[in-house]
Amino acid sequence: MLAALAGEARARPPFWLMRQAGRYLPEYRELRAKAGSFLDLCYNPDFAVEVTLQPLRRYGMDAAILFSDILVVPHALGQPLAYLEGEGPKLDPIRKTEELSRLSRERFHEVLAPVYETLRRLTTAIPAETTLIGFAGAPWTIACYMVEGGGSKEYAHVKRWAYGDPEGFARLIDLLVEVTADYLCAQIEAGAETVQLFDSWAGVLPIGQFRRWVIEPTRRIVAAVKARHPDTPIIGFPRGAGHAYEDYVADSGVDAVGLDTTVSPLWAARNLQTRLPVQGNLDPIMLATGGKALTDATAEILESFAARPFVFNLGHGVIQTTPPEHVADLARQLRRWPDLG
Ligand code: CP3
Repeated sequence: MLAALAGEARARPPFWLMRQAGRYLPEYRELRAKAGSFLDLCYNPDFAVEVTLQPLRRYGMDAAILFSDILVVPHALGQPLAYLEGEGPKLDPIRKTEELSRLSRERFHEVLAPVYETLRRLTTAIPAETTLIGFAGAPWTIACYMVEGGGSKEYAHVKRWAYGDPEGFARLIDLLVEVTADYLCAQIEAGAETVQLFDSWAGVLPIGQFRRWVIEPTRRIVAAVKARHPDTPIIGFPRGAGHAYEDYVADSGVDAVGLDTTVSPLWAARNLQTRLPVQGNLDPIMLATGGKALTDATAEILESFAARPFVFNLGHGVIQTTPPEHVADLARQLRRWPDLG
């Protein structure tokens, strides 16, 4: 995986899956029930290490991704957070500049200390050839959750703040740029060999706003992390960016880019992969579907990307109803490639 991120094409591309640990695995559901809440799972290194290892034991991915969540960052800034059964994350929303005083950096690293401990333990718990991935949410996506108070269809609150009071909203983004760069550096110092910035809601902004709230904050984080850790590759995942993937790749400074499900592999091979390694982009629903549809879609992605530096992944996270055997089928196909395409 590190060789691919450094720009080497591999005969057999490395693979891992976003959300490779999670509720589709019975052993995850069992531990999750024991832990009580999802946050207890994230903040208890015994549990978090175990959950990180679960998919590796079954499928031998080339990388392990730290088990945590992107929303521990607002939580560590003092914003109350709960995960409600069947409803997803809920935060007490922050909707205007005056409310930023509710956030504090004072306990940031103290709250996140168990995350760093999880990474330190993972450096010896995973096989030597397996790459350890750290991650954070990118500022725009984190701001979406902080301002909306959870998931959203329209993103109307966060957009109205960003469009109507850009100076005030920039104070939130600036804070997130600083703490996220710090957080990623601390993860690297604890053992992460590469880090991924998840910008799950990058695709909801028009181009000018995309430059300002997606590309620019990402560029600043990349620069700050590289100043301290120049050799650690940074993967950006601006989900839904569409044609703006080209601007993101040209201007954000990331070392590799994650492609969402909608990006055409042939287009991306020609227009993005000629500039940097790419990662992606099997539809997670294809993985849940299985059978010949899965085999064919996987082969198409491999054929499009395998000649240049490439990391096989999904275009978004594994969904809960995915049969674990389908992941085993996929892993087998990837491991045999290119001999039994
Ligand atoms: O990829 C991995 O295996 C590592 C762990 C990981 C989780 N979340 C675990 C998780 C990672 C990298 C994330 C990232 C994340 N979290 C993103 C970015 C990627 C994406 O999906 O767009 C986002 C937007 C979140 C926020 C989040 N966390 C939501 C919207 C939800 C609820 C949806 C759901 O599936 O329940 C979560 C909860 C969450 N994060 C779970 C897991 C395994 C499920 C919690 C449970 O066990 O109930």
